[in-house]
Amino acid sequence: MKITIFGAGYVGLVTGTSFAELGNDVILVDIDEKRVSDLNQGTIPIYEPGLEEMLKRNIEEKRISFTLDASKAVKNSEIIFIAVGTPDKGDGSTDLKYVLSVAKTIGENINGYKVVVDKSTVPLGTAEKVRQTIKENMAEKHEFDLISNPEFLREGMAMRDFMVPDRIVIGFDSEKSKNLMSELYRGISRPESPIIYTSIPSAELIKYTSNAMLALRISFMNQLAPLCELHESADIKEIALGIGYDKRIGSKFLQAGIGFGGSCFPKDVASLAYELKINNLDNNLIQAILDVNEKAKVAMIPKIQNVLGENLKGKNIAIWGLAFKQRTDDMREAPSIKIIEELQKLGAKITAYDPQSVENAKKIFTNVIYAPDPYTCVKGADAVILVTEWGVFRNLDMLRVKNLMNKPNLFDGRNIYDPKKKREIGFNYYSIGRN
Ligand code: UGA
Repeated sequence: MKITIFGAGYVGLVTGTSFAELGNDVILVDIDEKRVSDLNQGTIPIYEPGLEEMLKRNIEEKRISFTLDASKAVKNSEIIFIAVGTPDKGDGSTDLKYVLSVAKTIGENINGYKVVVDKSTVPLGTAEKVRQTIKENMAEKHEFDLISNPEFLREGMAMRDFMVPDRIVIGFDSEKSKNLMSELYRGISRPESPIIYTSIPSAELIKYTSNAMLALRISFMNQLAPLCELHESADIKEIALGIGYDKRIGSKFLQAGIGFGGSCFPKDVASLAYELKINNLDNNLIQAILDVNEKAKVAMIPKIQNVLGENLKGKNIAIWGLAFKQRTDDMREAPSIKIIEELQKLGAKITAYDPQSVENAKKIFTNVIYAPDPYTCVKGADAVILVTEWGVFRNLDMLRVKNLMNKPNLFDGRNIYDPKKKREIGFNYYSIGRN
């Protein structure tokens, strides 16, 4: 099938590359000139395991190309995906300017029947706005349908999540477009990856609800973590294990830690809270997810002050991991940002190491020293804080780490280490929701 995708960002790139891999002809449109020329050479602007290899192969086999020419791209395809960014305006409301500008372009260039598929994460009712915008800008009158097809892939796992999803959600309102979508997803849908057909507004809301529910589970555990810390042998990881075996609860997304980050959970939960508020509906449960998360990000600070003193002036603090989670270079809403800012306010000197996100981090912090590896990072440190659970931190020579440090204070923001073992080799070990 011939597919056009607007937006060569995270979702657009993964979607486009995967559809090309399945044998479709894909054109990806972006407004960023450099990005388009880099992508045509097979250079991707993000770090995502497996993406670059798959993209290069599909460029070589001429199933995918990148262009600035939106008009040609619209005319060339029957299925058009919108996968542009939907940033937060700051008050929880969602900025739809990129989505609606794509809708305008589609309207101006429509030359026959099109299915316009929204993959961007958008508030309830956006499909109607897109439909209106296309209609208002139509130069020639043509038939078109809208589909809401939210994306559930996780950064770091995106290639697998796209090809083997838990489900595919398709919001539709015409049989013709439904059939086209079912044809398009034929290579992916199977009994373990079923297509769920819904109305368009339901599909829009499924995306936010899904992210809010996952974020709720994390905040739920993070709110209970301090209670465990009051009891010598209570352990939030054991609680997660104990409840996770209940099939009604399940074991995923119950890991307490330094709070959730990224471009999705914080923004999407805020958008849902905003949507309820402007409709004069109660949003306290949804808002609480965010409030708990803000506190979770800095819960380590008083623990650090307990050990190093109120004022951290002259103290060297090492940070392991900057990205919002492992396997990504994404720094958006990363808990590391808030922790580093707070520590710097208290006078601490920060040295950080991250395997992938240093370039992105440099745009955020100017007064951080970036170490080339985890060992150099802890040299002379009064404390090290593990912020992102990269695999590399699980397999370090911890005796060497201890000997390099000025004081052996280890703060584990992701509960990845065994407290007993770390204490045995001489660390003062602190984690979240356990002693
Ligand atoms: C999330 C959703 O998981 C995807 O399904 C969705 O498509 C995506 O948002 C989106 O809306 O685009 P992502 O932000 O890539 O994906 O990352 P996750 O792996 O879900 O992690 C989110 C945050 O929760 C991370 O900061 C992670 O460290 C944290 N987390 C996750 C916990 O603190 N505890 C857990 O048990 C799980």
